[in-house]
Amino acid sequence: MIFVIILVVSMVAILGIARWVTWVLVNIENKYDNAGRILDLKDLASKNEVASALFRLVSEDGAGLWPPRAAHNRLPSCFQPYQDIYLELIPNLSTAIPALDDDINKQRIEEFRHKMSRLLCERVNILEVKHVLERFKLEGSRSLTQEIYNAVYCCVAVCRHAYRWGTIPVVKQAQNEIMLDFPMELNVPWSYLQRHFELSGESGNMTSNILLNFDQCGKRFYKVNITDSYKIATAEDIFSRIFFNIEVLAFPIYYEIALATTAFADQRKKGCIRHVKNIAKQIKKLLPIFFDNLRDSKIAHAVWLSHVQGFQAWGVGRIVNGKFEKHDGLSGNQLLFFSTIDAFLDLDRYLSDENMERYIPVNQRRLSLAIKNHSFRHKLDDGDVELKKYFKNIANYMRMFRSAHRSRARPYLEHPAPERLIMTAGKSVLETPKTKGFDDAYKPLDDMLMAQLQLTV
Ligand code: HEM
Repeated sequence: MIFVIILVVSMVAILGIARWVTWVLVNIENKYDNAGRILDLKDLASKNEVASALFRLVSEDGAGLWPPRAAHNRLPSCFQPYQDIYLELIPNLSTAIPALDDDINKQRIEEFRHKMSRLLCERVNILEVKHVLERFKLEGSRSLTQEIYNAVYCCVAVCRHAYRWGTIPVVKQAQNEIMLDFPMELNVPWSYLQRHFELSGESGNMTSNILLNFDQCGKRFYKVNITDSYKIATAEDIFSRIFFNIEVLAFPIYYEIALATTAFADQRKKGCIRHVKNIAKQIKKLLPIFFDNLRDSKIAHAVWLSHVQGFQAWGVGRIVNGKFEKHDGLSGNQLLFFSTIDAFLDLDRYLSDENMERYIPVNQRRLSLAIKNHSFRHKLDDGDVELKKYFKNIANYMRMFRSAHRSRARPYLEHPAPERLIMTAGKSVLETPKTKGFDDAYKPLDDMLMAQLQLTV
């Protein structure tokens, strides 16, 4: 028996190390290639709006790379307490088996929030926090590098999500809240950070909570479930990595889009064909990140809904001009890759203007908009057989993704979770007193997925 345990533990360790080594090698190769791509973009930026938007995204938000860099180990001293408090409290956030008793859950949530507010109040010097953010507003990266600013963004965002839920798995007691007062230590920096990224969302988003949560060695910094359960820990990790790794492979695609757009504008048809062909090829290489990982054997249905999804949801709001506005949490729909490919295919955008302004940082919005403005698919004529063929290939790959996503998402959401109401992270609580079961509650979202699938031609 002991031998079997040692064997299993060694296998897990070896697999872990192998994964890490692969990650580092791919990253080194990518960094080398990306440095050249970024120099090309800099040269092209004055001639082409897509290249200019991409260069701006990488050099401003990305701190010189994409996905964006975050220096979690170099926070300004006034933000260190936020990180310390998160890391100190997070082992108490999640519980293996949630209680089904409202009073017990209420007490858990209150205790967590009380402790977090008390520690924030005791340790954070809010004047110093304001001063640092105010200086960044005026002096930009001369006062604080973007990778440090990014780390601050991620840190404050995950602290807000931890406070929002107070316990994981998410329970009805917290889902039923409509508005929530946050400690000023979580509100004051948030308003600066959101203003910087020109966002109005109260919740974190794909950029703050997922993309910025990885450091340069591929380590995910802020975990949610500190647990002995291998199933829960790997489900949480693999799920986050899907999004991050998609953006790693998406950057060369954004670069090719900039080149294709420039070549088309310059009437260099051959070059344009080569770039659109590359885009199709690279999308084919990227999609297995989704297909190979969003499966029960890697991200277990049994743990995803209760332990992985809930933290990234939101579902409380605020009154604006006498009207209640509910804000949502994260969704795959916030990933830059999807909005840029839809724009390149000249398809309608999935997200509304309001949701773009709440959850997608302005430099990412600018990039999708520039690609849409310069999309040339509708300008092709009968002679552009090859270009049309490669555009069709891209649309077919995206259809494959959308139909697999539609069928794979459902069993995750359908899994029994008696502690909570039916909810997606991206659209909040779906259940109302009038809904009759899962199918009824989920139908509007499934219709949205179907509509986007049908649009993808
Ligand atoms: C268990 C995992 C997942 C579930 C249950 C799920 C569920 C959903 C639901 C219900 C929607 C429609 C509502 C909305 O816009 O938020 C949606 C949209 C979307 N999700 Fe997911 N999702 C999952 C994982 C993923 C992953 C891993 C990706 C990307 C790699 C992804 C990408 C998208 C995209 C791009 C959309 C917008 C619709 C579209 O463009 O077709 N989702 N998801």
